[in-house]
Amino acid sequence: VTELRWVGPQDADVLLVAGALFDAAPDPQWTAEFLARSGHHLCIAYVDGVPAGFITGVELCHPDKGTEMYLYELGVEEEYREKGVEHALISALAGRAKERGCYGMWTLTDVENLAARRSYEAVGGTERGTQLTLDWQLTD
Ligand SMILES: CC(C)(COP(=O)(O)OP(=O)(O)OC[C@H]1O[C@@H](n2cnc3c(N)ncnc32)[C@H](O)[C@@H]1OP(=O)(O)O)[C@@H](O)C(=O)NCCC(=O)NCCS
Repeated sequence: VTELRWVGPQDADVLLVAGALFDAAPDPQWTAEFLARSGHHLCIAYVDGVPAGFITGVELCHPDKGTEMYLYELGVEEEYREKGVEHALISALAGRAKERGCYGMWTLTDVENLAARRSYEAVGGTERGTQLTLDWQLTD
């Protein structure tokens, strides 16, 4: 049984329990900031009460384009993969994006990450473009 829970500004403690889902332990200050910011969304999927996966999304708005949802990160614990958890999380974020008036949703993934590419396509994502990612390092 997969249960989805949206995490709100009052629920930061939920991440203490579900923190292992993330690449690194969530920082209390950044967590509070993320949850308090408008247009920032975080949902956790529980399977039989155990945190099994999460998704984050951030709304991006542009003067000539309107508002879209950026699927920022998504991860499902290895033992819970291929059980529909990703499907549930992406559908939930897409639903929230629609409620919020977003015209679309998008994400980035590595060309080599064939599992992610196949699973995104399986839940309705279509691939486009051949863009590169460029970074600016802003800390010393
Ligand atoms: C990619 C990932 C999120 C998929 O999560 P999941 O919960 O196992 O996916 P689901 O069970 O909801 O499957 C969704 C669809 O993708 C397909 N799928 C899932 N994993 C797959 C794989 N390894 N290879 C091919 N197809 C796959 C499923 O068959 C399903 O398709 P269907 O709806 O036609 O049956 C998960 O493997 C993961 O966390 N990987 C590591 C982190 C990562 O790569 N994140 C994305 C970075 S951009």
